[in-house]
Amino acid sequence: MEIKFYKHDPIPMELHKVKIVQQLKMLPVKDRLEKIREAGFNTFNLHNGDIFMDMLTDSGVNAMSDLQQSAFLRADDAYAGSETFYRMRDKLEEIFGIKYCIPAHQGRACENILAQRFIDRPGKVVIMNYHFTTAKAHITRLGGRVEELVKSEGLISKSTLPFKGNIDLDRVEECIKKEGVENIGFMRIESGTNLIGGQPISYENMKAATDLAKKYGIPTVLDASLLQDNLYFIKIREESMKDVPVPEICRKIADLFDIIYFSARKFGLARGGAILCRDEAMYHSMEDMCTMFEGFLTYGGMSVKEMEAMIIGFDECLDMDVISQGPQFIDYCVKQLDDYGVPVITPGGGLGAHLDAAVLCGHIPQEEYPAGALTAAMYICGGIRGMERGTMSEERNPDGSEHFASCELLRLAFPRRVFTLSQTEYVIDRVKWLYDHREMIGGLKFTHEPKTLRFFTGKLAPTSDWPEKLAAAYAADFGEDQ
Ligand code: F0G
Repeated sequence: MEIKFYKHDPIPMELHKVKIVQQLKMLPVKDRLEKIREAGFNTFNLHNGDIFMDMLTDSGVNAMSDLQQSAFLRADDAYAGSETFYRMRDKLEEIFGIKYCIPAHQGRACENILAQRFIDRPGKVVIMNYHFTTAKAHITRLGGRVEELVKSEGLISKSTLPFKGNIDLDRVEECIKKEGVENIGFMRIESGTNLIGGQPISYENMKAATDLAKKYGIPTVLDASLLQDNLYFIKIREESMKDVPVPEICRKIADLFDIIYFSARKFGLARGGAILCRDEAMYHSMEDMCTMFEGFLTYGGMSVKEMEAMIIGFDECLDMDVISQGPQFIDYCVKQLDDYGVPVITPGGGLGAHLDAAVLCGHIPQEEYPAGALTAAMYICGGIRGMERGTMSEERNPDGSEHFASCELLRLAFPRRVFTLSQTEYVIDRVKWLYDHREMIGGLKFTHEPKTLRFFTGKLAPTSDWPEKLAAAYAADFGEDQ
């Protein structure tokens, strides 16, 4: 539902009201400078209490609805045979039409199981529209390789294309022929393509890609973690789908795939995950990995309370009044920034607003992590915690050289139903300030660099005293207490 205004320009509106609040605290800028230094200039290492607006992610931090929270009380705690699990499995079958469900504690746990099942020898290739950090890490850990075949237009930051997550079908076919069917583990299609700015993939493209995979007998896997955003965009941007109800679009998508997995920290607005598969033999080939790594097959490492909340959350993820909120707030933010001249990924996608650090911090060489530096600067200048999605989030090449990311992004995630429009305005305002002072931002270098997924816990140091100078300029404009 879209709220219309009388005199006011159209603005996105919250279609929920606040029932419980968490007080926010704003540390003065000089304290933030200290905190980011202690955190090794990596926003993952900050304490949440030191942050004014936490826009790190929408993972597990979306606000639950009253119905979700009240479902906690129904949760049936049992090591084996929990009624909560059967309710969850039945709801997923109702939505996706897929019978077998392997529960797992979060998305990457599903990725671990799938990688172990399909990467049965080194050299196996997984075709994707685009990788996600954890999905790729599990595959490469087992000696597998990822082929990212998103259409090249998807990587152009300024665009009007409605479906930048679409996979390049010609390159898919070329890849299958070049690698040989027997060397391909599976095709993974990621809805709401995370690392290129939460950009959707069209139903038409998913259908064509999965048809191609089926022609060659390659298993098809949907990463549905960001499906709710993708469903919204299909509904409003794909002409042939505009009259199809969202649950039906969802079912049509599900029908294309052999396997669906998701992080319920996103899809389901709770905390958990699951793998769904149609084939009984396939299910049995993965069940022991659930019992070994996750938990018994009727909870998979999840709290049953969260599972009950998820059952309600799945339906909320098919409700236009719920799933329109994130993209509308993001679109508002992206448009304001774009109008001001800030380089942002357009059109606005799901998940969050994405600043193009390759342009904004074009003066910082890629080996000094422009997106990481911008992310640290955003915390200093406003107490806003975003996430680096660029070269820091990549793994080094086997020879130790940097693997430069194709996009250098600062992601400002919009956890669903969490922030209001005035808070969004604050973020826009601080980004504009930072943009006007962009030349002051300098580079970073690693002081502690984990081998795998280094962006999570790595520590860095600035290449000069730029953070102090930036903080001083900020305090001069806004005062010491801001
Ligand atoms: N797939 C996608 C598309 C994701 O966005 C994520 C997580 C995962 C898989 C892994 O799920 O975190 O539950 O293990 N994305 C989070 C983010 C971390 O902030 O974008 P998980």
